[in-house]
Amino acid sequence: MKGLDFFFRPKSVAVIGASRDREKIGYCVLREMKKRYKGRVYPINPRARSIMGLKCYSSVKDLGDLDLAVITVPCRVVPLVLRECVEKGIEAVVIITSGYSETGKEGRDREEELKRIIRGSRTRVIGVNCLGIYDAYSGVDTLFLPESKFRRPGRGGISFITQSGAFGSTILDLMSFEGIGISKFVSYGNQTDVKENELLEYLDRDRKTRVIVAYIEGISDGRRFMGVAGKAVKNTPVVIFKAGKTEMGSRAASSHTGSLAGSYRIYEAAFKQTGVLEAQSVEEMFDFAKVLEFLKPPKGDRIAVVTNGGGFGVIISDAVIRNGLKLADFSGESRRRLRGILPGYANIHNPLDLIGDADKERYEKALNVLIKDPNVDGVIAIPLLQTFSLEPGVIDVIAGIKKKTGKPIIACATGGGYIRRHLARLEGKGVPAYISPERAVRAMKALVYYGRVKDS
Ligand code: COA
Repeated sequence: MKGLDFFFRPKSVAVIGASRDREKIGYCVLREMKKRYKGRVYPINPRARSIMGLKCYSSVKDLGDLDLAVITVPCRVVPLVLRECVEKGIEAVVIITSGYSETGKEGRDREEELKRIIRGSRTRVIGVNCLGIYDAYSGVDTLFLPESKFRRPGRGGISFITQSGAFGSTILDLMSFEGIGISKFVSYGNQTDVKENELLEYLDRDRKTRVIVAYIEGISDGRRFMGVAGKAVKNTPVVIFKAGKTEMGSRAASSHTGSLAGSYRIYEAAFKQTGVLEAQSVEEMFDFAKVLEFLKPPKGDRIAVVTNGGGFGVIISDAVIRNGLKLADFSGESRRRLRGILPGYANIHNPLDLIGDADKERYEKALNVLIKDPNVDGVIAIPLLQTFSLEPGVIDVIAGIKKKTGKPIIACATGGGYIRRHLARLEGKGVPAYISPERAVRAMKALVYYGRVKDS
Protein backbone atom coordinates (compact mmCIF):
# COMPACT_ATOMS: atom_id res chain seq x y z
CA MET A 1 0.00 0.00 0.00
CA LYS A 2 1.16 3.53 -0.63
CA GLY A 3 0.09 7.14 -0.31
CA LEU A 4 -3.31 7.55 1.23
CA ASP A 5 -4.22 3.85 0.89
CA PHE A 6 -3.81 3.32 4.63
CA PHE A 7 -6.78 5.60 5.25
CA PHE A 8 -9.09 3.62 3.01
CA ARG A 9 -7.83 0.05 3.09
CA PRO A 10 -6.19 -0.44 6.49
CA LYS A 11 -5.66 -3.92 7.90
CA SER A 12 -6.15 -2.65 11.44
CA VAL A 13 -7.71 0.38 13.10
CA ALA A 14 -7.34 1.91 16.58
CA VAL A 15 -9.95 4.27 18.01
CA ILE A 16 -8.06 6.52 20.44
CA GLY A 17 -10.58 7.90 22.89
CA ALA A 18 -13.06 5.04 22.41
CA SER A 19 -15.49 5.84 25.19
CA ARG A 20 -17.53 3.70 27.59
CA ASP A 21 -20.26 6.32 27.46
CA ARG A 22 -22.92 5.72 24.76
CA GLU A 23 -23.50 9.47 24.49
CA LYS A 24 -19.94 10.26 23.47
CA ILE A 25 -18.41 10.55 20.04
CA GLY A 26 -15.68 8.03 20.85
CA TYR A 27 -18.33 5.38 21.57
CA CYS A 28 -20.22 6.02 18.34
CA VAL A 29 -17.08 5.92 16.19
CA LEU A 30 -16.07 2.56 17.65
CA ARG A 31 -19.57 1.12 17.22
CA GLU A 32 -19.94 2.21 13.59
CA MET A 33 -16.44 1.06 12.69
CA LYS A 34 -17.11 -2.36 14.18
CA LYS A 35 -20.26 -2.81 12.11
CA ARG A 36 -18.92 -2.85 8.58
CA TYR A 37 -15.15 -2.90 8.76
CA LYS A 38 -13.78 -6.44 8.58
CA GLY A 39 -10.20 -5.78 9.77
CA ARG A 40 -9.02 -5.69 13.39
CA VAL A 41 -10.41 -2.88 15.56
CA TYR A 42 -8.76 -1.81 18.83
CA PRO A 43 -10.28 0.59 21.35
CA ILE A 44 -7.68 2.77 23.11
CA ASN A 45 -8.66 4.17 26.50
CA PRO A 46 -6.42 4.07 29.60
CA ARG A 47 -9.44 4.17 31.89
CA ALA A 48 -11.34 1.22 30.46
CA ARG A 49 -10.70 -2.54 30.40
CA SER A 50 -13.08 -3.39 27.59
CA ILE A 51 -15.70 -1.67 25.42
CA MET A 52 -18.35 -3.47 23.37
CA GLY A 53 -16.65 -6.74 24.17
CA LEU A 54 -13.30 -5.58 22.78
CA LYS A 55 -10.22 -5.51 25.00
CA CYS A 56 -9.07 -1.96 25.65
CA TYR A 57 -5.47 -0.78 25.45
CA SER A 58 -3.91 2.18 27.27
CA SER A 59 -1.94 3.36 24.28
CA VAL A 60 -1.24 2.43 20.66
CA LYS A 61 2.25 1.60 21.91
CA ASP A 62 0.84 -1.55 23.52
CA LEU A 63 -0.18 -2.94 20.15
CA GLY A 64 1.52 -4.53 17.16
CA ASP A 65 1.35 -2.99 13.68
CA LEU A 66 -1.45 -0.50 13.12
CA ASP A 67 -2.46 1.10 9.83
CA LEU A 68 -5.06 3.68 10.86
CA ALA A 69 -5.79 5.56 14.08
CA VAL A 70 -8.92 7.62 14.68
CA ILE A 71 -8.55 10.25 17.41
CA THR A 72 -11.60 11.25 19.45
CA VAL A 73 -10.00 12.79 22.57
CA PRO A 74 -10.21 16.49 23.48
CA CYS A 75 -7.68 18.87 21.93
CA ARG A 76 -5.57 19.11 25.10
CA VAL A 77 -4.88 15.33 24.86
CA VAL A 78 -4.42 15.18 21.07
CA PRO A 79 -0.68 16.15 21.01
CA LEU A 80 0.15 13.33 23.41
CA VAL A 81 -1.69 10.61 21.50
CA LEU A 82 -0.60 11.93 18.10
CA ARG A 83 3.05 11.81 19.23
CA GLU A 84 2.51 8.17 20.15
CA CYS A 85 1.10 7.49 16.69
CA VAL A 86 4.16 9.11 15.10
CA GLU A 87 6.56 7.14 17.32
CA LYS A 88 4.76 3.96 16.39
CA GLY A 89 5.00 4.80 12.68
CA ILE A 90 1.25 4.70 12.06
CA GLU A 91 0.79 5.98 8.50
CA ALA A 92 -2.79 7.25 8.68
CA VAL A 93 -4.48 9.27 11.43
CA VAL A 94 -7.94 10.84 11.36
CA ILE A 95 -8.45 13.56 13.96
CA ILE A 96 -12.13 14.23 14.64
CA THR A 97 -11.43 16.76 17.43
CA SER A 98 -12.43 20.43 17.04
CA GLY A 99 -10.97 23.51 18.71
CA TYR A 100 -8.29 24.54 16.21
CA SER A 101 -7.83 27.28 13.63
CA GLU A 102 -11.59 27.57 13.19
CA THR A 103 -11.72 29.10 16.70
CA GLY A 104 -9.04 31.84 16.38
CA LYS A 105 -5.47 32.51 17.48
CA GLU A 106 -5.09 29.93 20.28
CA GLY A 107 -6.68 27.25 18.13
CA ARG A 108 -4.31 28.14 15.28
CA ASP A 109 -1.35 27.67 17.62
CA ARG A 110 -2.73 24.28 18.66
CA GLU A 111 -3.00 23.25 15.04
CA GLU A 112 0.56 24.43 14.35
CA GLU A 113 1.74 22.19 17.19
CA LEU A 114 0.13 19.17 15.51
CA LYS A 115 1.87 20.05 12.24
CA ARG A 116 5.19 20.15 14.10
CA ILE A 117 4.53 16.75 15.64
CA ILE A 118 4.02 15.00 12.29
CA ARG A 119 6.66 16.96 10.35
CA GLY A 120 9.27 14.68 8.84
CA SER A 121 7.40 11.52 9.92
CA ARG A 122 5.49 8.85 7.96
CA THR A 123 2.27 9.85 9.68
CA ARG A 124 -0.36 11.61 7.58
CA VAL A 125 -3.38 13.31 9.12
CA ILE A 126 -6.92 13.84 7.82
CA GLY A 127 -8.73 16.51 9.86
CA VAL A 128 -8.68 18.14 12.34
CA ASN A 129 -12.28 19.16 12.96
CA CYS A 130 -13.81 16.60 10.64
CA LEU A 131 -15.95 13.48 10.34
CA GLY A 132 -13.26 11.58 8.50
CA ILE A 133 -13.90 8.67 6.19
CA TYR A 134 -16.58 6.34 4.95
CA ASP A 135 -15.49 3.75 2.40
CA ALA A 136 -18.40 1.67 1.15
CA TYR A 137 -16.05 -1.04 -0.16
CA SER A 138 -13.62 -1.55 2.75
CA GLY A 139 -16.17 -0.65 5.44
CA VAL A 140 -13.89 1.95 7.07
CA ASP A 141 -16.29 4.25 8.90
CA THR A 142 -15.13 7.02 11.21
CA LEU A 143 -18.42 8.96 11.11
CA PHE A 144 -19.93 9.66 14.51
CA LEU A 145 -23.44 9.41 13.15
CA PRO A 146 -25.58 6.60 14.53
CA GLU A 147 -27.03 4.35 11.85
CA SER A 148 -30.46 4.68 13.42
CA LYS A 149 -30.49 8.30 12.24
CA PHE A 150 -28.26 8.10 9.24
CA ARG A 151 -28.18 5.25 6.75
CA ARG A 152 -24.94 4.80 4.87
CA PRO A 153 -25.20 4.70 1.06
CA GLY A 154 -24.41 1.45 -0.72
CA ARG A 155 -21.48 0.86 -3.06
CA GLY A 156 -21.16 2.94 -6.20
CA GLY A 157 -18.78 4.98 -8.32
CA ILE A 158 -19.10 8.47 -6.81
CA SER A 159 -16.46 9.69 -4.38
CA PHE A 160 -17.31 12.74 -2.36
CA ILE A 161 -14.90 15.00 -0.51
CA THR A 162 -16.17 17.78 1.70
CA GLN A 163 -14.77 20.53 3.83
CA SER A 164 -17.94 20.57 5.89
CA GLY A 165 -18.78 17.46 7.88
CA ALA A 166 -22.33 18.60 8.52
CA PHE A 167 -23.09 19.28 4.89
CA GLY A 168 -21.28 16.17 3.74
CA SER A 169 -23.11 13.88 6.11
CA THR A 170 -26.56 15.16 5.20
CA ILE A 171 -25.73 14.69 1.55
CA LEU A 172 -24.62 11.13 2.26
CA ASP A 173 -27.93 10.55 4.00
CA LEU A 174 -29.75 11.92 0.96
CA MET A 175 -27.69 9.73 -1.36
CA SER A 176 -28.62 6.65 0.59
CA PHE A 177 -32.31 7.66 0.51
CA GLU A 178 -32.16 8.15 -3.26
CA GLY A 179 -30.29 4.89 -3.80
CA ILE A 180 -27.13 6.59 -5.11
CA GLY A 181 -24.05 4.55 -4.31
CA ILE A 182 -20.69 5.82 -3.12
CA SER A 183 -17.11 4.70 -3.27
CA LYS A 184 -15.30 6.97 -0.81
CA PHE A 185 -16.49 9.82 1.38
CA VAL A 186 -13.97 12.12 3.04
CA SER A 187 -14.81 14.97 5.38
CA TYR A 188 -11.39 16.64 5.68
CA GLY A 189 -12.18 19.62 7.94
CA ASN A 190 -9.31 22.07 8.47
CA GLN A 191 -6.91 20.16 6.18
CA THR A 192 -4.13 20.39 8.73
CA ASP A 193 -2.07 17.97 6.65
CA VAL A 194 -3.87 16.13 3.84
CA LYS A 195 -5.43 18.72 1.56
CA GLU A 196 -8.15 18.61 -1.04
CA ASN A 197 -5.61 18.58 -3.89
CA GLU A 198 -4.01 15.40 -2.64
CA LEU A 199 -7.41 13.77 -2.19
CA LEU A 200 -8.34 14.74 -5.75
CA GLU A 201 -5.14 13.19 -7.05
CA TYR A 202 -5.72 10.03 -5.03
CA LEU A 203 -9.33 9.61 -6.10
CA ASP A 204 -8.46 10.22 -9.73
CA ARG A 205 -6.21 7.16 -9.52
CA ASP A 206 -8.75 5.11 -7.55
CA ARG A 207 -10.25 2.44 -9.78
CA LYS A 208 -13.57 2.39 -7.91
CA THR A 209 -14.11 6.14 -8.37
CA ARG A 210 -15.82 7.13 -11.60
CA VAL A 211 -16.83 10.67 -10.58
CA ILE A 212 -15.37 13.00 -7.96
CA VAL A 213 -17.71 15.40 -6.20
CA ALA A 214 -16.33 18.10 -3.92
CA TYR A 215 -17.89 20.58 -1.54
CA ILE A 216 -15.37 23.32 -0.93
CA GLU A 217 -15.30 26.60 0.95
CA GLY A 218 -11.73 27.56 0.12
CA ILE A 219 -8.89 25.87 -1.76
CA SER A 220 -5.57 25.44 0.04
CA ASP A 221 -3.26 26.04 -2.94
CA GLY A 222 -4.84 27.52 -6.06
CA ARG A 223 -1.88 26.94 -8.35
CA ARG A 224 -1.61 23.28 -7.40
CA PHE A 225 -5.38 22.89 -7.74
CA MET A 226 -5.21 24.10 -11.35
CA GLY A 227 -2.64 21.43 -12.17
CA VAL A 228 -4.29 18.61 -10.24
CA ALA A 229 -7.87 19.31 -11.32
CA GLY A 230 -6.85 20.00 -14.93
CA LYS A 231 -5.14 16.60 -15.07
CA ALA A 232 -7.87 14.72 -13.18
CA VAL A 233 -10.73 15.81 -15.44
CA LYS A 234 -9.13 14.11 -18.43
CA ASN A 235 -9.69 10.82 -16.67
CA THR A 236 -12.36 11.38 -14.02
CA PRO A 237 -15.08 14.04 -14.11
CA VAL A 238 -14.90 16.48 -11.19
CA VAL A 239 -18.03 18.27 -9.95
CA ILE A 240 -17.53 21.06 -7.43
CA PHE A 241 -20.04 22.87 -5.29
CA LYS A 242 -18.42 26.03 -3.98
CA ALA A 243 -19.81 27.72 -0.88
CA GLY A 244 -18.81 31.06 0.57
CA LYS A 245 -19.50 32.93 -2.65
CA THR A 246 -20.70 36.14 -1.06
CA GLU A 247 -18.78 38.30 1.37
CA MET A 248 -20.91 37.14 4.29
CA GLY A 249 -20.71 33.51 3.22
CA SER A 250 -16.96 33.81 2.90
CA ARG A 251 -16.71 35.22 6.44
CA ALA A 252 -18.79 32.31 7.74
CA ALA A 253 -16.41 29.89 6.01
CA SER A 254 -13.41 31.32 7.84
CA SER A 255 -14.96 30.65 11.24
CA HIS A 256 -16.18 27.25 10.11
CA THR A 257 -13.07 25.50 8.88
CA GLY A 258 -10.58 28.35 9.20
CA SER A 259 -10.35 28.56 5.42
CA LEU A 260 -9.99 31.68 3.32
CA ALA A 261 -12.74 31.52 0.76
CA GLY A 262 -11.37 34.41 -1.34
CA SER A 263 -13.03 36.01 -4.33
CA TYR A 264 -15.61 33.79 -6.00
CA ARG A 265 -14.74 35.24 -9.42
CA ILE A 266 -11.30 33.68 -9.20
CA TYR A 267 -12.76 30.29 -8.36
CA GLU A 268 -15.28 30.52 -11.16
CA ALA A 269 -12.52 31.28 -13.66
CA ALA A 270 -10.34 28.47 -12.29
CA PHE A 271 -13.16 25.93 -12.61
CA LYS A 272 -13.78 26.95 -16.22
CA GLN A 273 -10.12 26.86 -17.11
CA THR A 274 -9.54 23.42 -15.63
CA GLY A 275 -12.73 21.83 -16.97
CA VAL A 276 -14.24 21.22 -13.54
CA LEU A 277 -18.05 21.22 -13.61
CA GLU A 278 -19.44 23.71 -11.17
CA ALA A 279 -22.78 22.82 -9.60
CA GLN A 280 -24.88 25.78 -8.54
CA SER A 281 -26.97 23.87 -6.03
CA VAL A 282 -27.03 20.72 -3.95
CA GLU A 283 -29.45 19.17 -6.43
CA GLU A 284 -27.13 19.86 -9.32
CA MET A 285 -24.21 18.32 -7.52
CA PHE A 286 -25.82 14.90 -7.66
CA ASP A 287 -27.75 15.43 -10.86
CA PHE A 288 -24.37 15.95 -12.54
CA ALA A 289 -22.63 13.19 -10.60
CA LYS A 290 -25.30 10.67 -11.57
CA VAL A 291 -25.17 11.39 -15.26
CA LEU A 292 -21.38 11.36 -15.30
CA GLU A 293 -21.26 8.09 -13.41
CA PHE A 294 -23.74 6.25 -15.62
CA LEU A 295 -23.14 7.60 -19.12
CA LYS A 296 -20.40 8.31 -21.63
CA PRO A 297 -20.43 11.85 -23.01
CA PRO A 298 -22.02 12.34 -26.43
CA LYS A 299 -20.02 13.28 -29.51
CA GLY A 300 -21.99 16.48 -29.95
CA ASP A 301 -24.86 18.56 -28.62
CA ARG A 302 -27.77 17.50 -30.91
CA ILE A 303 -30.47 16.11 -28.68
CA ALA A 304 -33.53 14.06 -29.61
CA VAL A 305 -36.51 14.40 -27.32
CA VAL A 306 -39.14 11.68 -27.20
CA THR A 307 -42.30 11.66 -25.13
CA ASN A 308 -45.90 10.55 -25.02
CA GLY A 309 -46.87 13.81 -23.32
CA GLY A 310 -46.85 16.67 -25.84
CA GLY A 311 -46.53 19.43 -23.23
CA PHE A 312 -43.33 17.92 -21.89
CA GLY A 313 -41.87 17.97 -25.37
CA VAL A 314 -42.43 21.72 -25.47
CA ILE A 315 -40.97 22.31 -22.00
CA ILE A 316 -37.90 20.23 -22.73
CA SER A 317 -37.39 21.95 -26.08
CA ASP A 318 -37.29 25.32 -24.33
CA ALA A 319 -34.85 24.00 -21.78
CA VAL A 320 -32.65 22.43 -24.48
CA ILE A 321 -32.34 25.73 -26.33
CA ARG A 322 -31.95 27.83 -23.18
CA ASN A 323 -29.10 25.61 -22.07
CA GLY A 324 -27.24 26.07 -25.32
CA LEU A 325 -27.91 22.58 -26.70
CA LYS A 326 -29.52 21.84 -30.07
CA LEU A 327 -32.66 19.95 -31.02
CA ALA A 328 -31.48 17.31 -33.49
CA ASP A 329 -32.81 17.49 -37.02
CA PHE A 330 -33.87 13.89 -37.73
CA SER A 331 -32.45 12.34 -40.91
CA GLY A 332 -34.72 11.55 -43.86
CA GLU A 333 -34.31 7.84 -43.17
CA SER A 334 -35.39 8.29 -39.52
CA ARG A 335 -38.44 10.30 -40.57
CA ARG A 336 -39.44 7.60 -43.03
CA ARG A 337 -39.08 4.86 -40.41
CA LEU A 338 -40.89 6.87 -37.75
CA ARG A 339 -43.75 7.52 -40.15
CA GLY A 340 -44.22 3.74 -40.35
CA ILE A 341 -44.30 3.39 -36.57
CA LEU A 342 -46.53 6.25 -35.50
CA PRO A 343 -50.25 6.80 -36.16
CA GLY A 344 -51.02 8.77 -39.33
CA TYR A 345 -52.04 11.89 -37.40
CA ALA A 346 -48.71 12.16 -35.54
CA ASN A 347 -46.19 14.87 -36.44
CA ILE A 348 -42.72 13.59 -37.19
CA HIS A 349 -40.42 16.20 -35.74
CA ASN A 350 -38.24 16.85 -32.74
CA PRO A 351 -39.54 16.81 -29.98
CA LEU A 352 -41.10 13.54 -31.05
CA ASP A 353 -44.60 13.12 -29.61
CA LEU A 354 -45.54 9.43 -29.51
CA ILE A 355 -49.11 10.53 -28.68
CA GLY A 356 -51.14 9.93 -25.53
CA ASP A 357 -52.02 6.32 -26.37
CA ALA A 358 -48.38 5.22 -26.80
CA ASP A 359 -47.39 1.88 -25.32
CA LYS A 360 -43.98 0.44 -24.57
CA GLU A 361 -43.65 -1.14 -28.01
CA ARG A 362 -44.06 2.25 -29.68
CA TYR A 363 -41.38 3.64 -27.37
CA GLU A 364 -39.07 0.78 -28.22
CA LYS A 365 -39.47 1.18 -31.97
CA ALA A 366 -39.03 4.96 -31.84
CA LEU A 367 -35.99 4.83 -29.57
CA ASN A 368 -34.41 2.23 -31.85
CA VAL A 369 -34.73 4.66 -34.74
CA LEU A 370 -33.42 7.65 -32.82
CA ILE A 371 -30.27 6.01 -31.47
CA LYS A 372 -29.27 5.01 -35.01
CA ASP A 373 -29.82 8.47 -36.46
CA PRO A 374 -26.43 10.03 -37.37
CA ASN A 375 -27.90 13.48 -36.61
CA VAL A 376 -28.65 12.53 -32.99
CA ASP A 377 -25.95 12.72 -30.30
CA GLY A 378 -28.09 12.05 -27.23
CA VAL A 379 -31.68 11.28 -26.25
CA ILE A 380 -33.96 12.55 -23.51
CA ALA A 381 -36.97 10.26 -23.00
CA ILE A 382 -39.96 11.51 -21.04
CA PRO A 383 -42.33 8.61 -20.45
CA LEU A 384 -45.63 9.88 -19.10
CA LEU A 385 -46.18 6.82 -16.95
CA GLN A 386 -49.50 8.04 -15.63
CA THR A 387 -51.30 7.31 -18.95
CA PHE A 388 -53.46 4.17 -19.12
CA SER A 389 -51.67 2.70 -22.14
CA LEU A 390 -48.06 3.06 -21.01
CA GLU A 391 -47.04 -0.02 -19.05
CA PRO A 392 -44.27 0.12 -16.42
CA GLY A 393 -42.38 -2.21 -18.78
CA VAL A 394 -41.27 0.93 -20.62
CA ILE A 395 -38.62 1.23 -17.90
CA ASP A 396 -37.05 -2.02 -19.09
CA VAL A 397 -37.38 -0.86 -22.68
CA ILE A 398 -35.43 2.36 -21.98
CA ALA A 399 -32.84 0.48 -19.93
CA GLY A 400 -32.48 -2.13 -22.70
CA ILE A 401 -31.95 0.55 -25.36
CA LYS A 402 -29.40 2.30 -23.14
CA LYS A 403 -27.42 -0.92 -22.94
CA LYS A 404 -27.13 -1.35 -26.67
CA THR A 405 -26.10 2.18 -27.63
CA GLY A 406 -23.05 4.30 -26.92
CA LYS A 407 -25.24 7.40 -27.10
CA PRO A 408 -26.40 8.79 -23.78
CA ILE A 409 -30.05 8.32 -22.80
CA ILE A 410 -31.48 10.34 -19.94
CA ALA A 411 -35.01 9.86 -18.62
CA CYS A 412 -37.36 12.32 -17.05
CA ALA A 413 -40.74 11.76 -15.44
CA THR A 414 -42.64 14.13 -13.22
CA GLY A 415 -45.09 13.05 -10.56
CA GLY A 416 -45.64 11.48 -7.16
CA GLY A 417 -44.83 8.22 -5.42
CA TYR A 418 -45.61 5.89 -8.35
CA ILE A 419 -43.34 7.89 -10.64
CA ARG A 420 -40.52 8.12 -8.13
CA ARG A 421 -40.54 4.37 -7.64
CA HIS A 422 -40.13 3.88 -11.37
CA LEU A 423 -37.42 6.51 -11.63
CA ALA A 424 -35.54 4.64 -8.92
CA ARG A 425 -36.01 1.43 -10.91
CA LEU A 426 -34.55 3.13 -13.98
CA GLU A 427 -31.53 4.32 -12.04
CA GLY A 428 -31.07 0.83 -10.64
CA LYS A 429 -30.63 -0.19 -14.29
CA GLY A 430 -28.06 2.53 -14.98
CA VAL A 431 -30.26 5.18 -16.64
CA PRO A 432 -30.01 8.58 -14.93
CA ALA A 433 -33.55 9.75 -14.27
CA TYR A 434 -34.84 13.15 -13.21
CA ILE A 435 -38.05 14.39 -11.73
CA SER A 436 -38.14 17.64 -13.71
CA PRO A 437 -37.45 18.48 -17.36
CA GLU A 438 -35.04 21.31 -16.48
CA ARG A 439 -32.93 19.03 -14.30
CA ALA A 440 -32.78 16.41 -17.04
CA VAL A 441 -31.61 18.95 -19.59
CA ARG A 442 -29.02 20.47 -17.29
CA ALA A 443 -27.65 17.01 -16.66
CA MET A 444 -27.38 16.44 -20.42
CA LYS A 445 -25.65 19.80 -20.74
CA ALA A 446 -23.14 18.77 -18.07
CA LEU A 447 -22.45 15.57 -19.99
CA VAL A 448 -21.97 17.45 -23.26
CA TYR A 449 -19.66 19.89 -21.47
CA TYR A 450 -17.62 17.07 -20.01
CA GLY A 451 -17.30 15.48 -23.46
CA ARG A 452 -15.77 18.73 -24.73
CA VAL A 453 -13.42 18.93 -21.75
CA LYS A 454 -12.19 15.40 -22.36
CA ASP A 455 -11.62 16.01 -26.05
CA SER A 456 -9.92 19.41 -25.64
N1 COA B 1 -6.01 7.95 25.23
C1 COA B 1 -7.18 7.37 24.92
N2 COA B 1 -8.34 7.73 25.47
C2 COA B 1 -8.32 8.72 26.38
C3 COA B 1 -7.14 9.34 26.77
C4 COA B 1 -5.93 8.93 26.15
N3 COA B 1 -4.74 9.45 26.45
N4 COA B 1 -7.43 10.28 27.70
C5 COA B 1 -8.77 10.22 27.86
N5 COA B 1 -9.30 9.28 27.09
C6 COA B 1 -10.69 8.83 26.98
C7 COA B 1 -11.60 9.42 28.03
O1 COA B 1 -11.45 8.75 29.27
C8 COA B 1 -12.95 9.22 27.41
O2 COA B 1 -13.42 7.90 27.61
P1 COA B 1 -14.54 7.58 28.78
O3 COA B 1 -15.75 8.37 28.38
O4 COA B 1 -14.74 6.12 28.72
O5 COA B 1 -13.93 8.07 30.05
C9 COA B 1 -12.68 9.38 25.93
O6 COA B 1 -11.26 9.31 25.77
C10 COA B 1 -13.16 10.72 25.37
O7 COA B 1 -12.61 11.75 26.18
P2 COA B 1 -13.52 12.89 26.83
O8 COA B 1 -12.64 13.72 27.69
O9 COA B 1 -14.72 12.31 27.46
O10 COA B 1 -13.87 13.73 25.57
P3 COA B 1 -15.30 14.04 24.90
O11 COA B 1 -15.89 12.82 24.33
O12 COA B 1 -16.13 14.83 25.81
O13 COA B 1 -14.84 15.03 23.71
C11 COA B 1 -14.24 15.24 21.43
C12 COA B 1 -13.86 14.67 22.77
C13 COA B 1 -13.14 14.92 20.42
C14 COA B 1 -15.52 14.59 20.94
C15 COA B 1 -14.45 16.78 21.57
O14 COA B 1 -13.31 17.36 22.11
C16 COA B 1 -14.71 17.47 20.24
O15 COA B 1 -13.82 17.92 19.56
N6 COA B 1 -16.01 17.53 19.83
C17 COA B 1 -16.38 18.12 18.56
C18 COA B 1 -16.11 17.16 17.41
C19 COA B 1 -16.58 17.72 16.09
O16 COA B 1 -17.62 18.33 16.02
N7 COA B 1 -15.75 17.52 15.01
C20 COA B 1 -16.05 18.06 13.70
C21 COA B 1 -17.11 17.31 13.00
S1 COA B 1 -17.50 17.96 11.47
